Amino acid sequence: MTDLARARAAEAAQAPAIDAVGLVKQYGGRGGVVDAVRGVDLRVEAGEVFGFLGPNGAGKSTTVRMLTTLLSITSGSASVAGVDVSANPDAARRKMGVALQEAGLDPRQTGRELLILQGRLFNFSMSQAKDRAQELLELVELTDAADRRIKGYSGGMKRRLDLASALVHEPEVLFLDEPTTGLDPASRLTVWDEVRRINERGTTVFLTTQYLEEADQLCGRLAIIDGGLIVREGTPIELKRELRERLGLASDPTLDDVFLDATGRTRIAGDVREVSA
Ligand SMILES: Nc1ncnc2c1ncn2[C@@H]1O[C@H](COP(=O)(O)OP(=O)(O)O)[C@@H](O)[C@H]1O
Ligand SMILES: [Mg+2]
Repeated sequence: MTDLARARAAEAAQAPAIDAVGLVKQYGGRGGVVDAVRGVDLRVEAGEVFGFLGPNGAGKSTTVRMLTTLLSITSGSASVAGVDVSANPDAARRKMGVALQEAGLDPRQTGRELLILQGRLFNFSMSQAKDRAQELLELVELTDAADRRIKGYSGGMKRRLDLASALVHEPEVLFLDEPTTGLDPASRLTVWDEVRRINERGTTVFLTTQYLEEADQLCGRLAIIDGGLIVREGTPIELKRELRERLGLASDPTLDDVFLDATGRTRIAGDVREVSA
C-alpha cells in the first residue's frame, strides 16, 4: 500500500457511516412543488443501528433514496462511509446495501438463484457467488427454503431474502426502509434478530420505521422526522427523560409518548391521527 492509499484507508476508517448536511428534496410536478425534505442533518457513526422514525409522508423514504443515490439531492450534501453520494455515486453504492419498501423479487426464481445472480452482478466468480449465497442463506435462516421458488415464500421470508440480497457485496452501511411493515409479529421478531446479527458482524444499519417499539428494541440512537424536518434526535433513554422532565411526569413515558409529543399527533383507538386545532 502506498502512503496515500494508507492515509485514505485511515481516513475512511474514521469517516462516519452517514454524514448529511442540509439535505433538501423538492419534487416538482404539474401540481406544484412538494417540499418533501426541508433541511435534514444526520450523522451516524460506524457500527450504529440508527432509527429514522416518522409518520406517513414525513420524508423518510425520500431521505433514504437521496442517501442511497436513487434520487437527486435538491440541495445539501451527503456522504456514506466517507464517499460523497452526488460526486461519486458508483463508489458510494459499493459501500452500501439497500432494501427498499417495495422489494423487487422475481417470484419465479429460487432464493438461492437470486443471491447467486446478485453476486454475479457484483463481479463474483460463479463459485464465489455460490459460497456467498450459502453464507447469507444461513445468516437469514433460509437454508431450508433456498431451493424453492420465491413465489411460495411468506412475507417474512421475502423480507429476510431481501436483507440477504442487500448484503451480497458486504456493504459497510445497510439501509432498510420499513423492513417490517406489514409483517406479522413473529416475522417481525425474526427480522429484528437478523438486523441485530448483521450489525454485530460490523455493518452499520440505518432503518426507517413507523413502529416505535422497533426503534426502542433495535436502535441505539434515533431521529424523528415530521414534515421534512427532524424534530427530535437522541437515544431512546435521552428522549424519554427529556419529555419526562419537561412535562414533570412521575414516571418515564414510552417512546410512543415521545413520538406523539414530537409530531403533535394523538392516539385514537390505536391509530395515530393529527390533532385538529
Ligand atoms: N415522486 C414524488 N413526487 C411528488 N411528491 C412525492 C414523491 N414521492 C414522495 N412525495 C411526497 O413527499 C413527501 C414525503 O414522502 P416520503 O418520503 O415517501 O415519506 P415517508 O417515507 O416518510 O412516508 C410526501 O408528501 C409525499 O407525498
Ligand atoms: Mg416511506
